[in-house]
Amino acid sequence: MMKLTTIINLFMLLFLFSCSQGQEEKQLVIGFAQCTGGDAWRKAMHSEMKRELSFYPELELVIKDARNSTSLQQQHIREFIDQKVDLLIVSPNEAAPITPLVEEAFEKGIPVIIVDRRTSSSLYTAYVGANNFEIGRLAGNYVGELLKGKGRILEVWGLKGSSPAVDRHNGFTSALKDFKDIKIVAEVPGEWEKDIAKEKFPDFYHQNKQIDLVFAHNDVMALGTFEYLKSIQQEDEMIFVGVDGLSGPNGGLQFVEDGILDATFLYPTGGEEVIRLARKILYHEPYEKENMLSSTLIDGRNVHIMKQQTDKILSQQSSIERQQGKIQKQIEVYQNQRILLYFLSAALLVIIVLGALALLSLKEKQEMNKELSAKNKEVIHQRNELARMARKADKATEAKFKFFTNISHEFRTPLTLIIGPVDDMLRGSVSAEMKKDLQLVKSNALRLLNLVNQLMDFRKIENQKMKLQVAEKDVVGFIKEISASFSRESRKRKIDFSVNSQVESLKVYFDSDKLDKILFNLLSNAFKYTKDGGKVSVTIELSDTYDKVIIMVEDNGRGMSEEHVKNAFDRFYTGEVYSNLSTGLGLALSKELVDLHKGEIAVVSEKWKGTKFIVSLPLGKEHLREEEIILPASETLEPMLDALLSSGNEEPDDLLESEELSTKALHRKDKTILLVEDNVELRAFLKKRLQKEFNVVDAADGTLGLSMAFDTVPDLIISDVMMPGMDGLQLTSELKNDKRTSHIPVILLTAKDSVEQKIEGVQSGADMYVTKPFSFAYLYERIKGLIKSREMLRDHYSCEIPAEAKQAVVPKQLDKKFVNEFLAVVEKNLSNTALNANDIAESLGMSKVQVYRKVKALLGYPVNEYVVKVRLKKAKHFLLNSEMNISEIAYEVGFSSPAYFSTAFKNHFQISPSEYRATHLVKD
Ligand code: FRU
Repeated sequence: MMKLTTIINLFMLLFLFSCSQGQEEKQLVIGFAQCTGGDAWRKAMHSEMKRELSFYPELELVIKDARNSTSLQQQHIREFIDQKVDLLIVSPNEAAPITPLVEEAFEKGIPVIIVDRRTSSSLYTAYVGANNFEIGRLAGNYVGELLKGKGRILEVWGLKGSSPAVDRHNGFTSALKDFKDIKIVAEVPGEWEKDIAKEKFPDFYHQNKQIDLVFAHNDVMALGTFEYLKSIQQEDEMIFVGVDGLSGPNGGLQFVEDGILDATFLYPTGGEEVIRLARKILYHEPYEKENMLSSTLIDGRNVHIMKQQTDKILSQQSSIERQQGKIQKQIEVYQNQRILLYFLSAALLVIIVLGALALLSLKEKQEMNKELSAKNKEVIHQRNELARMARKADKATEAKFKFFTNISHEFRTPLTLIIGPVDDMLRGSVSAEMKKDLQLVKSNALRLLNLVNQLMDFRKIENQKMKLQVAEKDVVGFIKEISASFSRESRKRKIDFSVNSQVESLKVYFDSDKLDKILFNLLSNAFKYTKDGGKVSVTIELSDTYDKVIIMVEDNGRGMSEEHVKNAFDRFYTGEVYSNLSTGLGLALSKELVDLHKGEIAVVSEKWKGTKFIVSLPLGKEHLREEEIILPASETLEPMLDALLSSGNEEPDDLLESEELSTKALHRKDKTILLVEDNVELRAFLKKRLQKEFNVVDAADGTLGLSMAFDTVPDLIISDVMMPGMDGLQLTSELKNDKRTSHIPVILLTAKDSVEQKIEGVQSGADMYVTKPFSFAYLYERIKGLIKSREMLRDHYSCEIPAEAKQAVVPKQLDKKFVNEFLAVVEKNLSNTALNANDIAESLGMSKVQVYRKVKALLGYPVNEYVVKVRLKKAKHFLLNSEMNISEIAYEVGFSSPAYFSTAFKNHFQISPSEYRATHLVKD
C-alpha cells in the first residue's frame, strides 16, 4: 500500500502546480530602454502601453528611464542584453551612440522594436512611430500658407542627435522651399525640454527682431518660448506652432484651445501599437517591420472637436482603467479561486486516490481474511486432527499402561503361586539340598517380582502417574533401617559393611517408598559386584553449602569402565555385564526417582577398583510443590485406611513367625469365608489352605460371588480385584450397598499397588487390601484380625441395649441403619407375644435367613434370643421407672405369662423381677 508520506508529497506537488498555474502569464519579459520618462508625452506613452499590456498578463514590461542621458541609456541596454530579455524596446536618446548596442542585441537574437526615435542602422526587428519628415513638411506648408508666403521664423530644435529633430527640420525646410520669402532666421537648441527652450530662446529672439512665428519641434518647447514672450508681453504678436498634439490638461490640444499655440501636429506616442507588435513578435505572428503612425494638423478650426474627442477618449480611457482595475481585482479573486479550485481538485484527487487505495486495501484485506479464514479452518482441522491423534495416542498409551499393569498382574499371580508353596515347603521338613534349591527358586521369584515392580514404576514415571509424596523424616535413621536388611548378607559374605553419618539425625523431606527403592538398588548393586570379604559403606553428610544431604554408597568391587560410567543411568544401555537387566533398570529407575526429588545422582568408578554412587537431595521444601508434601500417614488418614494402605508394603517374610503361632491358635470352623477369584490355581491354593480353619465357599467371578454372598451371607469375603465381568471393586460396592451383606468384611486381593487404586478399593467399601504377592500367613493374619475386630464390635454393641448408645459404635452407615430399623421394629412390637424372626424379616423387606445371619453377625445372637434380651431390658426399665406391677410389665414387654417372664428374668439376670425392684428401688 502507498505510504502516507508519498500521498502527502503528491498532494504538495499538486498544490505547487496549482499555484504555478496562477503565475504562468508572467513568463515573457520585455525590456524598455526609454530615453526619458519625465514629460507628459512619455507618460502618456507608458500609460498606453500599460493599458494594452493589461490584455496580456503573460507579458511583463520593465521600463528603464535614462533621463535624457545617452550613456545611462547605453548602460540600460547592456543590462537588458545580459539579462536576456525576451524582447527589447528602445527609444534612443540619440541615434548614433545607441545604434551599436541595438545591433548587438539584435544580432544576439533579441527582437528589438525601435519606437519614436530611430537608430542610424536598419538592424532592428521593427519600428513604430510617425513620419517626422512628413510632420515637418506638413508644418512647413501650414506655416507657409499662414504667413501667406512671407515672414521670419525662429525654429526651436529637439535634441540634435535624435532622429525626430533632424527629420522634422528637414521636412519643414523642404516645404518652405516653396515659400521664398519665408526665412528661418534662427535655430534654438531646445533639446526637447521646455525649460531649456525657455532659457535659450531669449538670446536668439533679441538678436533677430521681428520674428513672426516660432516653430518648435514639440509643444512643450513652444510653450517655453510663449511663456518667455508673455513675460515680456510680446506674445500677442507671435504665432506659435508645435508638435505632439497631446490630449489632457498639459497637452498641445489644450494649448491650442487656450490660444497659446496657433497650431500643433499630432504626434502619436504609439505605446499601444508597440505592445501589440511586441506580442506578435513574441508569439511569432506575422508583423510589419515599419509601422508608421499617421499625423494631422490641429488648429483653431478643429481643436474644439478634437478636444472633445480626445477628452471623450481620455474619459473612456480612465473608465477603461477603472474597469481594468476592477477586472484586475476580479482576476485576483479569480486567481485565488483558481488556486482554491486547484487545491480542492488536488484534495479531491488525493481523496479519490486514498479512496481507491482504501478500496484496494479493503479488497486485499477481504482477500486476506478469506485466505486467513481458510487457513484458520485448515489449522482448526489440523488441530482437531492432532487432538484426535493425541486422544488416539493417549488411548494407545493408556492401553499400553493397562497392558503393562495386566501383564504385571499376570506375573504377580503366578509369582504368588510360586512363592507361597515354596514358603510352605521351606517351613516344612526338607533336606538341606532341597532347601538350597527352594531358596534359589524363592530368591529368583522375588527378583522377577522386583523386576516387574521396576517396570511398573517406569510405566508410572513415563505416564506421569508417579507422584512424589514426601514427608519430613529423619533420613539418617531411615538409611540405617534400610541398610540393616543387608547386615545378614554382609555377615554371611564377610563384607565389611558400615553406615557412617556426619550427623546423628537429619530432617529431610523425602518420599520413603522412593528413597527406599533408590537405596535398595544402590546397596543391591554394591553387594552384587563386591567380592566376599570386600567392603561396602554408606556415608551421609551435609554439603559444603549446608543445603543438601549427600548420601554415598561406595564399594571396592569390580568397578565400571569409562564407557559404562557415562551410560550408567541409561536404561537402554546394554554395553556390559554390569548393566544386566536388573541392575540397568535399577540404576535408571533410581535416577528417575532422584530427579523426582529434584536431587542429583552421580557415579564415580574405576575398573577393578570400586564404585561410588553419590545421591544429593535438597534440604527444605522450597523445591517441592504443595501437593507433593503430605503429613505423616497417621495424621491424615483414618487409622483403618492407614492400616489398609500399609498392609501391602509389608515384607511377607516378616510375618513368617507370627503365622506359625496364629495358625495354631485358630479353631474357627464355625466361620464361613466366601472366596472370589478367577485364577483357578490361586483359588484352589487358597481354598485348600483356608479350609483347614474355615468353611469355604468359592466363586470364579464377581457376579457369581455376589449371588453367593446373598445366599450364604458369609462371615468374610476374599475377592480378587481384576476379574472378567464384575471386578472386585464393583463386587465390594454392591455388597456394601446392600443391607443384606453390608456387614460382611471384604478383603481385596490385587496386583495393583498404587495408592490411588488402594484408595479406590477403600472407597468401594473394602475393609482391607492385600497386594499380591502375599504370603498365606500374612493373609491369614488379616483374616483373623478382621474376624476378631468384628466380634469385638458385636460384643460391644450388644452388651447394653439402649438404642442411642449403639449408634456410636456401629461403623458402617448401612449396618447402623439396619440395626436402627431392626430395633425400631422390635420396640414397636415389643408387647406382641408372637413377634418372631419371620415378622421382623417381613417388616425389613429381607429374607428370614438374611435377617438371622445379619443379626447374628452384628449383634451376636439369634433374632429370637435378641428379642427376648430386649424384652427383659425393657422390663428392667419398667420395674424401676413405672407403677406397673410385675404381671402388667410381663404383658407389656410381650411375655405370654408372668411366670414365663419371671423365669426368663431370673435366668438372665440371676435375680427375680420382684427382688430386682425391691433392691434397686431401696438403693435409689
Ligand atoms: C517627448 C518628445 C516629444 C517629441 C518626441 C520626439 O520626449 O520630446 O515632445 O515629439 O519626444 O522624440
